[in-house]
Amino acid sequence: MSLIKDVKAKAVDGLLAAGKKAIASAPDAWMPGAHPDPLAEHRNGLVGAAISRVDGPEKVQGLARFAAEIPLEGMLYAAVLFSTIPRGRIAALDTSAARSSPGVVFVMTHENAPRLKTLPPFTKNLHSAAADDVPVMQDDRIRWNGQPVAVVLAETQEQADHALSLLHPAYEPEPASTSFADARARGVEVGNFMGLLKDEVGDAEAALSAAAVHVDAVYSTPRQNHNALELHAVTVAWDGDELLVHDATQKLAHTAWSLAHAFDVKREQVRVLSPYVGGGFGGKSLWQHQILAAAASRAVGRPVRLVLSREGVYRVVGGRTLTEQRVAIGAASDGRFEALIHTGVAAMGQHNNMPEPFINPARSMYAAGAFHLEVDTVRLDMVANTFMRGPGEAMGTFALESAIDELAVKLKIDPIELRLRNEPEREPISGLPFSTRQVKRVFKDGAERFGWQHRHPTPGQRREGEWLIGMGVAAGSYPYTRMPGGAARITLRNDGHARVEIGGQEMGMGTATVHAQVVAARLGLPMSQVVVHYGDSSLPGTVMAVGSQQTAAFGAAIASAHSALVQKLLKLVKADSPLHGLGVGEVEGLDEGLVAIGDRSRRETYRSILTQSERSEVTVEAAAPLPLEFLHWAMHSHAALFCEVKVSAVTGETRVTRFLGSFDCGRILNAKTAASQLRGGIIMGLGLALMEETQFDERTGRIVNASLSEYHVPVHLDVPPIDVIWTDIADPHAPMGAHGIGELGITGTTAAVANAIYNATGRRCRSLPMTLDKVLDKVPGGL
Ligand code: MOS
Repeated sequence: MSLIKDVKAKAVDGLLAAGKKAIASAPDAWMPGAHPDPLAEHRNGLVGAAISRVDGPEKVQGLARFAAEIPLEGMLYAAVLFSTIPRGRIAALDTSAARSSPGVVFVMTHENAPRLKTLPPFTKNLHSAAADDVPVMQDDRIRWNGQPVAVVLAETQEQADHALSLLHPAYEPEPASTSFADARARGVEVGNFMGLLKDEVGDAEAALSAAAVHVDAVYSTPRQNHNALELHAVTVAWDGDELLVHDATQKLAHTAWSLAHAFDVKREQVRVLSPYVGGGFGGKSLWQHQILAAAASRAVGRPVRLVLSREGVYRVVGGRTLTEQRVAIGAASDGRFEALIHTGVAAMGQHNNMPEPFINPARSMYAAGAFHLEVDTVRLDMVANTFMRGPGEAMGTFALESAIDELAVKLKIDPIELRLRNEPEREPISGLPFSTRQVKRVFKDGAERFGWQHRHPTPGQRREGEWLIGMGVAAGSYPYTRMPGGAARITLRNDGHARVEIGGQEMGMGTATVHAQVVAARLGLPMSQVVVHYGDSSLPGTVMAVGSQQTAAFGAAIASAHSALVQKLLKLVKADSPLHGLGVGEVEGLDEGLVAIGDRSRRETYRSILTQSERSEVTVEAAAPLPLEFLHWAMHSHAALFCEVKVSAVTGETRVTRFLGSFDCGRILNAKTAASQLRGGIIMGLGLALMEETQFDERTGRIVNASLSEYHVPVHLDVPPIDVIWTDIADPHAPMGAHGIGELGITGTTAAVANAIYNATGRRCRSLPMTLDKVLDKVPGGL
């Protein structure tokens, strides 16, 4: 409990500091909820436009240099050796052969690594980017199978890799906890992630027993690993006590803070650059490799490049943990929920705290007479599990939305109708009103467009040759989030060009593009005259790109900075200016200048304002206002996912033939990047539904399919035509009226596939991934 209080106290401190700064810097700034952001309501052609990514051309031309491609003078290449036992100690590690191997400059082990301060995990210190508090190469302890035990530095990568093969550590193994069932038998603890993962309203078990109809089933989801196209990589150089880090990260500022803490230097002495990231998904965080590279570099006094191999990513970078979830729903004969129970167990590592919060969807999606929601945890000797593509929601919606489909079958009610009968008036657990909620609309629009009326309600009715064909539907949900710490700097030049600087991260989702659009729209400039600088920890703002919240977090900061800029410009206007005497709320940006909203004939260009006041440019910096919107409203995005599958009656193989996502996620800022985000989310969901699974050998705690040849993700042939539609209804309480959408498309997708498989075959798959063996096994003798 003290941890929660601690985290909450720190969060509130952070909020207050950010809020004070915001109010001081821009008293007229847009405040969430006070009135809608003007950009949410009237559009000038830029907001919402399908504009191609501004970072696209340099990437496709190969001009963009990623972290593993930065050449530095005198740079050494690193190779990392991973432990092969889950728990124990290193008894002996003879490095002599490796050290005398050609090109080798240094072999680092726990015996000669620089002394480092242990990092607090981010759950204990909000500045930190670390998932766990494991000391990095500071002692002889082995804490998971795959932990780094040695780093070789050599003049070439091949020399480093070869020398690594000459290292043969001897271990003293100790009994390890690597079996989920054994750990459960020893007892579970209620998960705690910024609050206890447990909600009880009424007596859910009693309501379940008393209900006219009920379903009660267990759903299991496996471990899954991060497989961003770009391998985790870092290129580092020390200059005295100053550390320059070329990283691939979604946590710029937090990585800088963490490395400064570990090496006991000042935060300002560490600069992290990460302009290009080849996919993040929750995995591009601070892991041991950045610390090891910086430690080795410091020890030898030369720059170091460390690129994890694909196997290395599985060993060092945590992914999603496994879960076992019970969903029980008791309903009246008209379908109204009288009890909603969603409980279960997730595993965590011994040194981290990420209890996969799979109950999140059930906290907001449906009304019910009574609730029992609870995530219990057990601890295993394994790499720290972490955020991964819709943590909580992706796996929670699999269980919840499958169970609702099962209940619809029992009740003989259309599954869309059943969901709509349980639409909540207010958010059930918190009691807060929804800021916006267009669930009926997304189902209606989606059903029409997908042709839901053609679905046969009885399973197994459509067959073409060996293929059984079916349709399924599920709801998706992801929270609107806006973390504190957003800040932005805008510089406007008198030639009508603007530069926006944010400590933001672009992992390919369109951050740079969307903020350029938004700034151009606010200022009334063409896109070509706005440039967004990001990917540098020395820029304003300490916002990590997680939880699909970067657009809102920096969007709010940019709104504040824009207000401050307008205020400054209005102070500069001369007494004879048509804008003289107007306040911030009375003007807007148009045609490279400001115009009075009430009288469009009153206008002056930026060039004129700045030239007349003899300035070549003005610069303002502002912090985002406090995310107070959460105190007043339940803020979520919603989705209706429609899936058509064909399942082979011979092999049990499922092929998704059509998919449609219908979304309610506020104002869409860029139709092209939004469609890509949502479609990408759906593709990830299809992978989770049908193929992704980390094979963790419970005897040894070893991941045995640590490669893309044995860990399957969707490739082009696995991906059907995916149709994406949205309401484009602004959330009046969010900056720009927009919600982050990175993770929304993943949620509900797995259940839509499961429900389609049921409709095609009559087989209910309650275990991910729904591989052909599971589909065939449901009834002996095949389909
Ligand atoms: Mo997302 S899994 O919070 O990067």
